[in-house]
Amino acid sequence: MARLWGFEEIRTPTFEEAGLFSRGVGENTDIVEKEMYVFTDRGGRQLALRPEGTACAVRAYLENNLSQKENSRRLFYIANMFRAERPQAGRYREFEQIGFEIFADPSPAADAELITLALAILNEYGLKNPALAINSIGCPNCRGPYRRALKEALDKIAGELCEDCQKRLDKNPLRCLDCKTCGPKAQAAAPAFALCAQCAAHESTVESLLRSNDVSFKKDRSIVRGLDYYTRTVFEISAAQLGAQNAVAGGGRYDGLVELLGGTPTPASGFALGVDRVIEAKTAGQAVDSARGRQAVFAVMVKPSSATLDYAFGIIHDLRKQGIAVFTPGYTDSMKSQMRQAGRSGAELALIVGDEECQNQRVVIKELGSGQQETVIRAQLSAHLKNRLNS
Ligand code: HAM
Repeated sequence: MARLWGFEEIRTPTFEEAGLFSRGVGENTDIVEKEMYVFTDRGGRQLALRPEGTACAVRAYLENNLSQKENSRRLFYIANMFRAERPQAGRYREFEQIGFEIFADPSPAADAELITLALAILNEYGLKNPALAINSIGCPNCRGPYRRALKEALDKIAGELCEDCQKRLDKNPLRCLDCKTCGPKAQAAAPAFALCAQCAAHESTVESLLRSNDVSFKKDRSIVRGLDYYTRTVFEISAAQLGAQNAVAGGGRYDGLVELLGGTPTPASGFALGVDRVIEAKTAGQAVDSARGRQAVFAVMVKPSSATLDYAFGIIHDLRKQGIAVFTPGYTDSMKSQMRQAGRSGAELALIVGDEECQNQRVVIKELGSGQQETVIRAQLSAHLKNRLNS
């Protein structure tokens, strides 16, 4: 999918200088305040296990002068991230993201393209009915006055807000709008956000591009995102199959971040997809991966002599070369244990090879469900298996 959309892969280190995230993601965000794994290394440097990939991509973009290479303005990464959150279903301290970032493109079309890419990946993977919600949080010009108006309105109901939100009132009142506890109260008290003319035009183009591509979405003014770098477009995709932690992807535009981290002013936009949650959403309610048994066989070796082991090894190697997955047991396990492993493996068929089969150049095929077995000539094994596994 990345290739189809024209993205190049970037791999950045697992840890970075901690200041990259306090500057980039924001000193007063939950991620930096409560969730970063920070440590001092042997050289006395303050490092952090990366809590997210955008600041890392920007750092690499600047350090390697990627703005000069036209085909390096669209980057993607598949990487593990670390956040010291309270673990619960769908929320882990180490998790994996697939992230996409577009640099040096101010156009609303870049935002719309990223959104369609996120949905296309989820669709390709087979996730049913992901829900897209979008919003615009404006630019520094229009957000300043709104922040002040919002703070004034929320100050009046400060006593009804949770402890976290009372702190957010001074630092970033926008975050009160998406608080799990007092979000609805804050939204009811909030004044309407008046975007400046440029931000409003940007928002309406993103929306019309989505509409003309049949992408359905909900406009949700409560989406403000938990990271400070966003400007204008923000979006989240959620999966109804999940519980409280139902966001499978999130992202938006961050026109100020490259400059904040030391580059020349460079607009940018991106998103990240939470791999663990996407997998969980798809497999929710499914006991096993039903595709697994279809292309796989389990090789069982009965007390093999060295010639038999050689014979079995050759067969296994051959089948894998032809694209048939072969599970092998612990080589020295008893026959009983090997058959038990075969039964649990999810494979449909077991291949049984002993000294007799080796001498006659034969293989026994056992159907694990019914227990029926037959003997085939080695030379015909792969054609025979392909037939059976596809039927
Ligand atoms: P984020 O919303 O913090 O955004 O994370 C993106 C996705 O990562 C979430 O929607 C969720 O699926 C997954 N995720 C986050 N935290 C956890 C966790 N503790 N356990 C499991 N999955 C989790 C970002 O990280 C931004 N860097 C996205 C971005 C890229 N914005 C612009 N470019």
